[in-house]
Amino acid sequence: MSYLRLTVLISGNGSNLQALIDARANGRLGIEIARVISNRADARGLSRAQSAGIPTQVIDHLAFSGREDFDRELANAILATQPRLVVLAGFMRIIGPQVLTPLEGRMINLHPSLLPLYRGTNTYQRALDAGDVQHGASIHFVSEELDGGPVLSQLRIPVLPDDDSNSLAARLAPMEHRLLVSTIELFTRHDVECRDDKIYVDGKKLSRPLLLQPDEHLS
Ligand code: GRF
Repeated sequence: MSYLRLTVLISGNGSNLQALIDARANGRLGIEIARVISNRADARGLSRAQSAGIPTQVIDHLAFSGREDFDRELANAILATQPRLVVLAGFMRIIGPQVLTPLEGRMINLHPSLLPLYRGTNTYQRALDAGDVQHGASIHFVSEELDGGPVLSQLRIPVLPDDDSNSLAARLAPMEHRLLVSTIELFTRHDVECRDDKIYVDGKKLSRPLLLQPDEHLS
C-alpha cells in the first residue's frame, strides 16, 4: 500500500492537524505526514506533531524583510519534503506565487465558510450579521486569490437562533475535522486533480463541490 504524502502548514492550535494524526493512527487514513511547517514558533500544533513523531519546522514570517523572501523560503521547505499534497490547516498567511507556482494543483485549504461566501476572516460573525440560516466549511484548491480557488468539498451546519460567533465556531470545529479527514480520504482512494481551475475526480469533472452529509464519508 502506498501512503499519500502530505505536508501540513499551520499557524496555531492544530486541531485539524490532530484530526489527521488521529485518523492515521486509527487506520482510517493511509497518509504519511512528511513535515508540519508553522510560521509561528508558539503554534500548539507543533507539539501535537512532535508527540506523533512528525518532523516540524518553523519559518517565522517576521524574520524576513519582505513577503517574497518568506515565500521563497517556504516554497523551498515545502518542495524539499516532496509532498503529493500540501494541506493548509489554519495557516494564516497569504500564499504568494513563489509558493503557488511550483505547487499549483497540489495545495488545499480548509476555510470556515460556505465558499464563495465570506472569504477572509471573521466568517462566523459575518454569517450571523447576514442572518444566514446555514454556515459551514469548505476545502478548496489554493489559487492566487484569497480563499478563491475551486471548491472541492463542503459541509453545512444550521445556524441556531441564539448562536453567537463563539458557539457557531465551537459547533463547526468538529465538523471541520470530519470534512478534512473525509476529503483527505478521497485523495487516498481516488485520483483528484485540479487543472485550469476545474476539479476532476477519477477523470470526471466536478460540477459542484462534494457535500459531506452527517455520518457519511465522501468516498
Ligand atoms: C479552522 O477553523 C480552519 O477552518 C481555519 O483555521 C482554523 C484552524 O484551526 N482556516 P486549528 O488550528 O486546526 O485548530
